Amino acid sequence: MKTELFLISLLVINVKSDFCLPSVTTVSGSRAGKVFCADQLIFEDNFDTLDLSIWQHEHTLTGGGNYEFQYYCNNRSNSYVEDGVLHIKPTLLADEKGEAFLSSATMQIYGGTPTDQCTNPNHNGCSRTGTPDNIINPIKSARIRTFESFAFKYGKVEVRAKIPAGDWLWPAIWLMPKYYQYSRWPASGEIDIMESRGNRDLINKATGENIGSKLVGSTLHFGPNSNFNRYRLAHFEASLSEGFNAEFHNYQLSWTPDGITYSIDDEVIGAVQPTHGGFWQYGDLNKTNLENPWRGGTKMAPFDQEFFLIINLAVGGMSYFPDDVINPGGKPWSNKAHSGATDFWKGREQWLPTWKEDGSYHFLVDYVKIWSV
Ligand SMILES: *[C@@H]1O[C@H](CO)[C@@H](O)[C@H](O)[C@H]1NC(C)=O
Ligand SMILES: *[C@@H]1O[C@H](CO)[C@@H](O)[C@H](O)[C@H]1NC(C)=O
Repeated sequence: MKTELFLISLLVINVKSDFCLPSVTTVSGSRAGKVFCADQLIFEDNFDTLDLSIWQHEHTLTGGGNYEFQYYCNNRSNSYVEDGVLHIKPTLLADEKGEAFLSSATMQIYGGTPTDQCTNPNHNGCSRTGTPDNIINPIKSARIRTFESFAFKYGKVEVRAKIPAGDWLWPAIWLMPKYYQYSRWPASGEIDIMESRGNRDLINKATGENIGSKLVGSTLHFGPNSNFNRYRLAHFEASLSEGFNAEFHNYQLSWTPDGITYSIDDEVIGAVQPTHGGFWQYGDLNKTNLENPWRGGTKMAPFDQEFFLIINLAVGGMSYFPDDVINPGGKPWSNKAHSGATDFWKGREQWLPTWKEDGSYHFLVDYVKIWSV
């Protein structure tokens, strides 16, 4: 009897799969299953636990290429799961090591096993000596990624998240290429699903626009080299008067062999659909007289290769927070100064009170879901 019931349910499943549309999605990694059909859920994490066999932590002082002020580490004070929600919470390194440590110590984070090794040595990312003018990264935070567990090419992504409110916080949900098929950044592309600035009242002086937590951005980075990154042609923004920090929202990416569409809560905020000339033509790159690194790819190149997912909370840095802004209490550092981290830390009376005790400065992620297309 049991067997019969089992057979019947198998039949039902088979009937359903007759409607299976073939998928163009490919997947790889230790958590990659078989992709049979389009519209199949191929990755899901509801953060009932923080599963480190899915999410590998970055462990580095490198500063993300922008001299950002955070030290990314694997520590349950900075990344943890509570009531089915991932929290990334920035903390002060001085609370752990003491104030003098920042300007006088040498911090080495090489690590001795594959799990605690330093993950990025660029810009003294594995060893730093603090000086009064250039202190050690004063904020501890987290960046997690699916580099080993899950990469995919083409799909639909939905991340339900609540962005943090707090000055100079920079949350991001993004994808990076697994193999750099078309050479180093940005030639192999970068897909930023969501990034924002935590300041509640950050105003662009020139436009009067709130560029803080009332604004989120989505961007494709692509170009033959970093001098010709054409991201401005694929940058989209959405604004919300109550702020994106007030509620959870669904940040969505649809990525197919025809184009890339960004949405929030099912509302499209921007799309790129290259013609047969691909991103070379879309970026008007022929006039650079450089060699087209994507010439062997499809019209979606460099976005026709597998990418993996990254979620992080960065702080400050020398590029993302413009100097020409109005902010309550001002901006404690200049992007042109070499003493950015020191000036930021010395100015903490300005920003630390905006990281409120109610925890609204935590970056929260409810779930990540990815479907095949
Ligand atoms: C984790 O972070 C907390 C808070 O900063 C600190 O007290 C603790 O020592 C850290 N643990 C390790 C193993 O570094
Ligand atoms: C691109 O530029 C090269 C010379 O730099 C030229 O020969 C070629 O026709 C151009 N292609 C297009 C599509 O404009």
